[in-house]
Amino acid sequence: MQVIRWGVVGPGRAAARFAQGLQGVDGVALAAVWGRNRERAQEYAARFGVAEVAGTLGELFASDLDAVYVATHPDTHAKICLEALAAGKHVMCEKPAALNVRQLEKILATAREHDRLFMEAMKPPFFPLYRKLREHLVGDPIGAVGFVRAGHADATLPPEYPLNFPELGGGGIMGIGPYEAFLALDWLGELKRVQTMGRVGAAGVDTLALFQTEHERGMAQLHTGLDLLSRGDALLCGPGGYVSLHANWWNPMRATIHYIGGRVVTLHEPFSHGGFNYETAHFCGLIREGLRESSVITHAMSLGMARMLEEARTALGVRFPGE
Ligand SMILES: NC(=O)c1ccc[n+]([C@@H]2O[C@H](COP(=O)([O-])OP(=O)(O)OC[C@H]3O[C@@H](n4cnc5c(N)ncnc54)[C@H](OP(=O)(O)O)[C@@H]3O)[C@@H](O)[C@H]2O)c1
Repeated sequence: MQVIRWGVVGPGRAAARFAQGLQGVDGVALAAVWGRNRERAQEYAARFGVAEVAGTLGELFASDLDAVYVATHPDTHAKICLEALAAGKHVMCEKPAALNVRQLEKILATAREHDRLFMEAMKPPFFPLYRKLREHLVGDPIGAVGFVRAGHADATLPPEYPLNFPELGGGGIMGIGPYEAFLALDWLGELKRVQTMGRVGAAGVDTLALFQTEHERGMAQLHTGLDLLSRGDALLCGPGGYVSLHANWWNPMRATIHYIGGRVVTLHEPFSHGGFNYETAHFCGLIREGLRESSVITHAMSLGMARMLEEARTALGVRFPGE
């Protein structure tokens, strides 16, 4: 099996979970890391056994790597992805892949131009529970899912948390919204329109957002927030029943399917290694097969997510520096 050599950009929280996930993936090496704070990059390297701490981003991209994992904040995703792709690396970038549709289109065009694989990191569809649910609903269906409800708001984040800063591409919509956008697009198909209500806090990011979306096969009701607490299940509703995807539904582990007539089926599939391992294994498989796009998180799916997030936040007046 071809060993996929990874380089990490931005050794923060997500990057730590990525490294934990790699421990559950066969045929990979965490070869190099770059962080703007060298000390933190060195700590990361020591913690996860990374051989090389690159002095600059250019040095990292000049290393013998197959793939780069971008785990900085959304404000720098586009710039770093463009550089990595131009240097000939395959790129998996944390969600949201870019600040807006325009930036994402540029990333995708650059991936095509340099014949590289690009995928937005999106955990849920690769989790054992999600796959089991999809499989289960084929044999024991609830009919075509026509309504999705999902939300999450977290008032417990400290003031220094990146989502509180517009200059980093923050806000509830950019933080938790990508998972909701994914869920709606995955079950309901292509996005038609977005209706949004919400409020913007003193910092200039959305602190409560309710967005309803219409898709080719149905509608979704989604919410995100930073100034109140809302935790709960996501719902997928069909004519013959509904699925409760239990909290935290973006790291899905348990689902209950309620059928018309009262029959109930429960699914429980724990995940291992923190959960980043499944999407990473998928991405490595794509590299080995010589593919340039995931069939699960397609480029069209990422564009749909980006469009949904951009429309929702701009409707509330949230614009990022430079937009
Ligand atoms: N998939 C998931 O479950 C998951 C979970 C959490 C986060 N995320 C995503 O991961 C991304 C990062 O979030 P996080 O929570 O990991 O943030 P974090 O802990 O603050 O880490 C961000 C990293 O990016 C670096 N960075 C920030 N600004 C930079 C710049 N201008 N140039 C170069 N490096 C820069 C930081 O360096 P310093 O240390 O020097 O500040 C740090 O290493 C976000 O897109 C977020 O949505 C995904």
